[in-house]
Amino acid sequence: MSDNKIIVTGGMGYIGSHTIVELVNAGYDPVIIDNLSNSNVSVLEGIKGITQRKIAFEEVDLSDSNACREVFSKHKDAVGVIHFAALKAVGESVEQPIRYYKNNIFSMINVLEALTTHHIDNFIFSSSCTVYGEPKKLPVTEKSPIQPATSPYGNTKQVGEEILQEAMAIEDSTIRTISLRYFNPIGAHKSTLIGELPLGIPNNLLPYLTQTAIGIREQLSVFGSDYNTPDGTAIRDYIHVVDLAEAHVVALTRLIKKQNKSNYEVFNLGTGKGNSVLEVIKSFERSTGEKVNYKIVDRRPGDVEAVYADTTFAREELGWATKRDLDEMTASAWAWEKKLRGQ
Ligand code: NAD
Ligand code: WQD
Repeated sequence: MSDNKIIVTGGMGYIGSHTIVELVNAGYDPVIIDNLSNSNVSVLEGIKGITQRKIAFEEVDLSDSNACREVFSKHKDAVGVIHFAALKAVGESVEQPIRYYKNNIFSMINVLEALTTHHIDNFIFSSSCTVYGEPKKLPVTEKSPIQPATSPYGNTKQVGEEILQEAMAIEDSTIRTISLRYFNPIGAHKSTLIGELPLGIPNNLLPYLTQTAIGIREQLSVFGSDYNTPDGTAIRDYIHVVDLAEAHVVALTRLIKKQNKSNYEVFNLGTGKGNSVLEVIKSFERSTGEKVNYKIVDRRPGDVEAVYADTTFAREELGWATKRDLDEMTASAWAWEKKLRGQ
């Protein structure tokens, strides 16, 4: 068994590609499994430009149980799996719930079966702060109540966590799992060789903002200014994608070194600081010198007012904290957008 081979499902995607880079930096040997449903094979070139390494890539749909079984038999010497592969558009999941459940839940079950078959014992799951819904108390700790999911996408994360918790609780489970609840990842690698590649019209704030600043979109809509927040716009915990990527390496290493305190652990990954939509726009304008054409419009249905992480547990248990501030996030998102558009 090779002692540093890691399977990264969804490794061609936004967070996955940044994590591949940090895995290589930490001396791991990642293999990507991805069906390219929301990514592009050119990502491999970007990763190679940063790491000088050609990363093994398997184009496989993990929701297909036979294909999943086959690809895992080929890489059964892996010591861990980071499972990013999922569809993630909240609105689309409301329109196509069966597609979302099939893709996200089947993939996770197939991957877990493969782990069991091949005794690959270390598993990291991409969860989301969406599980907290509209929190009653801020900041949210890992013990804050889970609220009923408001979309099939959100439900795939909640059900995913429940399945893992139950599967890790059985006595003869040799698998150790960490669920990482991401807050709002933004920004890009400083090389501008990898970043977010939204398909079509972006739903998320940062890609919409940078596409507006570069002239692809006419105007950014700020969804609501009547929230009970200092400037009336909604608050989120924006985290630099490279900080997030580094956290995956820390969490995986914790499992491999058997430093985990139980077979199933959950960590919030955020900065601990909430910023409003207007603060993000101001940060972007400050860090780039560009102006954003924006207009305040009605609230977006389903949005929560404010959510940000209590980071104590991640800091004390994982020994991990973010290093990059909001201006670095917005500046790097802009550098990436310009690179994408050949500027
Ligand atoms: P992404 O869409 O950029 O990456 C996901 C990757 O998974 C894509 O490359 C896609 O092609 C692949 N994929 C999807 N279904 C697959 C399947 N059946 N088989 C093989 N590959 C498949 O998304 P991301 O932003 O990098 O998110 C990664 C993970 O983090 C997802 O699980 C997402 O739900 C979760 N997450 C993301 C955010 C966020 O804001 N970006 C926040 C919280 C949680
Ligand atoms: C951020 C803020 C919007 C776009 C979503 C998912 C969540 C998680 C992260 C995966 C909000 C405002 C946005 C725009 C705006 N993903 N906004 N104009 O909604 O916090 O979370 O992505 O797990 O599950 O729901 O992120 O980037 O869409 O919005 O004013 O054009 O920006 O109202 O306050 P969100 P977002």
